[in-house]
Amino acid sequence: MHFKLAFIGFGTVGQGLTEILLEKKDMLAEQYDFNYIIVAISDIMKGSVYEKYGLDMYKILDLVKNGKKLDEYPTGIKDLDSLATIKKSNADTIVEVTYTDIKTGEPAITYIKTALGAGKNVVSTNKGPVVKQAVELLKMAESNNAHYGFEGVVLAGTPALNLARFSLAGNKINGFKGILNGTTNYILTRMEEGMSYDNALKKAQVLGYAEADPTGDVEGLDALGKVVILSNVVLGKNIGWKDVERKGITEITKDEIVKAKAEGKRWKLIGSAEIQSDGSVKAKVWPEKLPLSDPLASVNEAINALTYHTDELGPITIVGPGAGRRETGFSLLIDLLEINRKS
Ligand code: HSE
Repeated sequence: MHFKLAFIGFGTVGQGLTEILLEKKDMLAEQYDFNYIIVAISDIMKGSVYEKYGLDMYKILDLVKNGKKLDEYPTGIKDLDSLATIKKSNADTIVEVTYTDIKTGEPAITYIKTALGAGKNVVSTNKGPVVKQAVELLKMAESNNAHYGFEGVVLAGTPALNLARFSLAGNKINGFKGILNGTTNYILTRMEEGMSYDNALKKAQVLGYAEADPTGDVEGLDALGKVVILSNVVLGKNIGWKDVERKGITEITKDEIVKAKAEGKRWKLIGSAEIQSDGSVKAKVWPEKLPLSDPLASVNEAINALTYHTDELGPITIVGPGAGRRETGFSLLIDLLEINRKS
């Protein structure tokens, strides 16, 4: 397929995908017959640019890395906002990477519906729309003959959702448990080595792990969003963010981390859900002091881990990066390659 891509949002994840697409252009064309141009970008902070025959993305990355606005790109249309970019550009596929609001899902839901309604594919790492309306958006994609891909909303580019959707198909998945937030796992790792909470959080922000508002990470809201997504998309339930018990890591002091270490234990922020005998789901995000013998205790840095409880195979665990510029950017390539296979 020859994609015409438009980016809605162009922060770390969008830039991460761009770098991968530029570096792997030849490989993608040769191995997968995957070809692309990027025709438009619209970002609330950086402005917008539309060039129907394709933008020079080396120039774009250069502008953005030097703190310049997209208006400084030498050619193209500069006055389209995000909705106008989706509606008026010749893009066939929208890369939706605007900020996440898991309580409302907006403005991303509006962007995604506008694109799908116009028959355009959407790939997105935005958790908000999947938390709020996964089933509805997937149905809308189907009825418009378009694709809505969101592999990266859980465990970034580590293919946790595709594992359940394809490789574990035929199993009944009754629950899951895991480390679902990279930022908090990174902070806990650094604090155990002696770094202060504030410095560890700052480093997580610099490394591109944290959300635009990192409160969502440290207070467990980001992990909660992933628990809701997994409960609805993988366990087939229909819960909302208010149905999950939640506590973040902000009350875990350095002293408690040192004490846990002396006891042969380690603090981790754990997200879990289990289907109950009455069919309801019990879901939780809570810090747990795990013995070092627990496999999750040795998952450190911004690495995440997720164990599915399956009926045929028992526990199946996937471990890999849960956050980061290229690690999350790559998840969008997984979705694009799926569209490419189907086309
Ligand atoms: N802020 C998120 C995390 C990004 O730290 O896990 C990936 O969803």
